[in-house]
Amino acid sequence: MTDFDARLRWTRAHMPVTRAIGEALPDLAGVRLACSMHLEIKMIPAIEALSARGAAVLLTTCNPTTVCDETIARCKAAGAEAHAWRGMSDAELEAGLRRIVDFRPTHLCEMGAAITTYLHARPAEERASVRAAIEATGSGTTRLAALRPSYPVFNWDDLPIKEGLHNRHMVGLTACHAFFEGTRLTFHGKRVLVIGYGLVGRGVCDAARAYGGRVLVAELDPARALEARFAGEEVVAWNEGLPLADVVVTATGARNVIAERELACMRDGAFLLNVGHASEEIDLAALRAHPSERVLPHVERFSIGGRAIHLFAGGSMANLTAGHGDSLNAFDVTLAAMLAAIRFLVTEAPVAAPGVHLLPRHAWIDVARLAAQG
Ligand SMILES: NC(=O)c1ccc[n+]([C@@H]2O[C@H](COP(=O)([O-])OP(=O)(O)OC[C@H]3O[C@@H](n4cnc5c(N)ncnc54)[C@H](O)[C@@H]3O)[C@@H](O)[C@H]2O)c1
Repeated sequence: MTDFDARLRWTRAHMPVTRAIGEALPDLAGVRLACSMHLEIKMIPAIEALSARGAAVLLTTCNPTTVCDETIARCKAAGAEAHAWRGMSDAELEAGLRRIVDFRPTHLCEMGAAITTYLHARPAEERASVRAAIEATGSGTTRLAALRPSYPVFNWDDLPIKEGLHNRHMVGLTACHAFFEGTRLTFHGKRVLVIGYGLVGRGVCDAARAYGGRVLVAELDPARALEARFAGEEVVAWNEGLPLADVVVTATGARNVIAERELACMRDGAFLLNVGHASEEIDLAALRAHPSERVLPHVERFSIGGRAIHLFAGGSMANLTAGHGDSLNAFDVTLAAMLAAIRFLVTEAPVAAPGVHLLPRHAWIDVARLAAQG
């Protein structure tokens, strides 16, 4: 048995809720599901369950830095098609979107809204086959709200069993763990500036403290900044926090939060660590204009005006790129919720109005019940 086989067996064994929801899926013959998602080992049980129930599945990725090529091989063996591999270029990603058009999907499963964004920039007939979609990220839901999709899209990011667990508790914890694993440094004696105080940022604050850090928060939205104060956080303006921070964590979903202006404020030796959905939270072009060397597998050191600035995990989501992502028991709930959302898509969603909706409670509450039985 290979190491991957052993890990996959262990993964399956610790995802009982996903297994239960997957085995009870309806007949999916005729469903053509195009996916844009993170493709690591924990996705395999869901893809296997969908394929076993007769769905035609086409896998593309929302982030080439999180693709595990062995995972793709296993999903293909289960019957899925795939256009995804680690480190694929922007042109190759776009070729995947063109392949989705040719696939004529009936349903979409998205993390970041790349497919729907692409389809809505194309002639309407290229998306005529799509009946409904699901979206798993806050960044994607924001993009979709501006786009007004011509089919119903169900947001399952804002569910208590997704954002309340994965976003709030797992991302920060596993990103800090990945930092520790990748650098052999904890945050003891260090100041950690968390930029963005959404649920992900809140989890980062808690985890950074658990790993020894003295936490500072920078948040643009005054209401959120106030919540941070009431939670006991030290809230600072970005230009106050950056010169103090030994570790800067971006958790915003916005682009170029750290660009040339911010880099110029950072202290010697500081680390940049991103947990937001896209690597663009850090302006990598601005960073890469400075001389650099790779000092560890997940750490690059840049020389900026005589200071050393470290980039962790290439600016991609640290928990997924440099770590293992969520624990199996936590991700079991997330993955089961995704399957429940797909079940809803094929059974009830076609009658919904076009536009973005929250996935209704009756579509996912059995996942919470099963997980609570523990
Ligand atoms: N790494 C992962 O596995 C993972 C998992 C879930 C979500 N995410 C991603 O994490 C990001 C944050 O998620 P969330 O649910 O907390 O989002 P959110 O939108 O609720 O919170 C983001 C916060 O960042 C603030 N912000 C935006 N730009 C800022 C700036 N320049 N300076 C300071 N504050 C700024 C916003 O005001 C907002 O309060 C999203 O991109 C989301 O997709 C990552």
